[in-house]
Amino acid sequence: MAPNPAPNPMPAPREVDYNIALDSHVKPVTISDKIAYGFVRFLRFFADKFFAKRYGHRAVVLETVAAVPGMVGGLWQHLTALRKMRGDEGWIRTLLDEAENERMHLMTFIEIAQPNWFERFLIISVQFVFYNAYFFLYLFAPRTAHRVVGYFEEEAVISYTQYLAEVEAGKQENVPAPQLAIDYWQLPEDARLSDVIIAVRADEAEHRDVNHSFVDVIDDRRAA
Ligand SMILES: [Fe+2]
Ligand SMILES: [Fe+2]
Repeated sequence: MAPNPAPNPMPAPREVDYNIALDSHVKPVTISDKIAYGFVRFLRFFADKFFAKRYGHRAVVLETVAAVPGMVGGLWQHLTALRKMRGDEGWIRTLLDEAENERMHLMTFIEIAQPNWFERFLIISVQFVFYNAYFFLYLFAPRTAHRVVGYFEEEAVISYTQYLAEVEAGKQENVPAPQLAIDYWQLPEDARLSDVIIAVRADEAEHRDVNHSFVDVIDDRRAA
């Protein structure tokens, strides 16, 4: 029998870590940390101005960006493992899983909010710039690249907490969860948008911890 080229378009279901810490922050210490944090805070300022309380739109646009670093990091780790002919210590799988998870966030929120023409234009332009910028950042400064993502994710946790508060306060309709989200996070059939936001936020907190811990591993390797 010929192998099926696309066995299942849905990624494996994910377990939501409801106990993950939400308010953790890594204090920027080195110059590279400070640049990473300053850069992320600078972008946050514009995101807050542009999206204001349009959290669904914010999620769609920013998830198209969030799904890039894992794929780029995974690619570079793969190339590094080939060049140095050594194992990757599980980094490639972890980074590709992160990219896939972020893409599922996008597939979920696209069912909640449709980007307008300007946001679609923004998504294409930002991808062009951000993919290339992150590609070279990862090549020359992988430590900073992971720190940037760690800080992006800290901000993502904050944004989803604000989104959740708006929904819980009834300022945004707590619509039924998309079926894709129910299947992916194994949510109850009557799950609502608020349950989805809680699941997504837990994922972002996990990416935050993973990326900050990759920085620690790089520091340890350099110190050894
Ligand atoms: Fe995300
Ligand atoms: Fe994330």
